[in-house]
Amino acid sequence: MIDLHEFHKQLVRPHIQKGVAAADFTMGNGHDLLWLAQMLPDSRIYAFDVQQQALANTRRLMTDSGVTNTRLILDSHANLKQYIHEPICIGLFNLGYLPGSDKRITTMRPSTLAAVSGAIDILAPDGILMIAIYPGHAEGEAEGEMLSQYLATLDRRKYCVGKFRILNSATSPYFIFVESK
Ligand SMILES: C[S@@+](CC[C@H](N)C(=O)[O-])C[C@H]1O[C@@H](n2cnc3c(N)ncnc32)[C@H](O)[C@@H]1O
Repeated sequence: MIDLHEFHKQLVRPHIQKGVAAADFTMGNGHDLLWLAQMLPDSRIYAFDVQQQALANTRRLMTDSGVTNTRLILDSHANLKQYIHEPICIGLFNLGYLPGSDKRITTMRPSTLAAVSGAIDILAPDGILMIAIYPGHAEGEAEGEMLSQYLATLDRRKYCVGKFRILNSATSPYFIFVESK
């Protein structure tokens, strides 16, 4: 059977561009960030979270792993343009809340929309945004619907937008990707 995590990585890997920046817009405990930073050792990797604890946990993981190319930012991803002034080849969003922590600190539609649309603006040619969505909670389901509607309006000559979803398991996580030409 398909391993969703591995499939997600397979879609992202072809978009690695040596020396071009990348971003993890929902850093959490830093696991996705570590993967990204190790794939792009010569690039600057930006990471955002609104929780101080997320930055502390991630900083420890980066130090323990010997990773030095990340820039950890304690702010909403909606403000990404205040921090990123260069194109990115990969942008990761793992929406929702951090498992095992306060479920009230979850990504929300207005800031998610601002962040995704801002990330599209700075996406390098042949770049990818990969957005993991968790429809098992109400805000996650609404975020997925909002993003599906918004991303369906992007110009097909400039972007390819796709969705991968398990049809016989309505609450399973799914993902949406945006590739730039
Ligand atoms: C599902 S977790 C991410 C897991 C992470 N990718 C990892 O590998 O551990 C979602 C994260 O998004 C963060 N978050 C919520 N709202 C945010 C916002 N407006 N800007 C940036 N991060 C936000 C939460 O604090 C939480 O840590």
